[in-house]
Amino acid sequence: MWIELPLLIVIVILLYIFVILKVIRRVWHFPAPAFIGRGLNSRPRKRIQPPRMLVEALGLRPGAIVAEIGCGPGTFTIDVAKAVSPNGHVYAIDIQQGMLDQLQSNIDREHIANVYPILADASGRIPLDEESVDFIYSVTVLPEIPDRIGALKEVRRLLKSGGLYADAELVFDPDWPLPRTVKKWADAAGFSFKKQLGSFLRYVLVFSKE
Ligand SMILES: C[S@@+](CC[C@H](N)C(=O)[O-])C[C@H]1O[C@@H](n2cnc3c(N)ncnc32)[C@H](O)[C@@H]1O
Repeated sequence: MWIELPLLIVIVILLYIFVILKVIRRVWHFPAPAFIGRGLNSRPRKRIQPPRMLVEALGLRPGAIVAEIGCGPGTFTIDVAKAVSPNGHVYAIDIQQGMLDQLQSNIDREHIANVYPILADASGRIPLDEESVDFIYSVTVLPEIPDRIGALKEVRRLLKSGGLYADAELVFDPDWPLPRTVKKWADAAGFSFKKQLGSFLRYVLVFSKE
């Protein structure tokens, strides 16, 4: 009993903070602040949402040209860059320089040379050519972009015909949407749904540009 009560109190406090964050996010849209980068790139987070899941969901192979929307500190970028090496590369796009600085130090530490950071708003114009990318993915990013359908249309513009886009979401994200909500956004941007991996609490949805 002496250990259960403090545990219960911690769980209730965490739930309370989570609900408050969810309410704040409903009314106030802003990118996840760069200071949470360490938490995003932490070991417990990678256990809950393993970076390899994107590699498997998209069937990434050496030589592929990939873009990541909202790369943050590079939690997923590094595994993807290794999977497409040699000859392949990753464009790591984020709206915040603070996140790209963390990405740069993480890729430097791992001696990774096939990641190209790009500072851009995904719902605007990403400075890459039309139909120049084989695969695009985003992890816990889409719901925090106010114009998600605009961002998905931009993703579609960059993808080669037959290219795949994957979106991964996690219930612990205060912005977490249901899979059917993401499917609606993707449908509105002209994507075809291919498959879902995982449960509705932690999932990857894969879409194609026909
Ligand atoms: C919750 S973090 C997730 C970071 C990373 N994908 C991960 O899962 O560790 C969301 C990221 O998306 C970026 N972001 C938000 N809005 C964006 C936009 N309109 N264009 C590009 N990046 C954006 C934020 O700066 C932040 O790095």
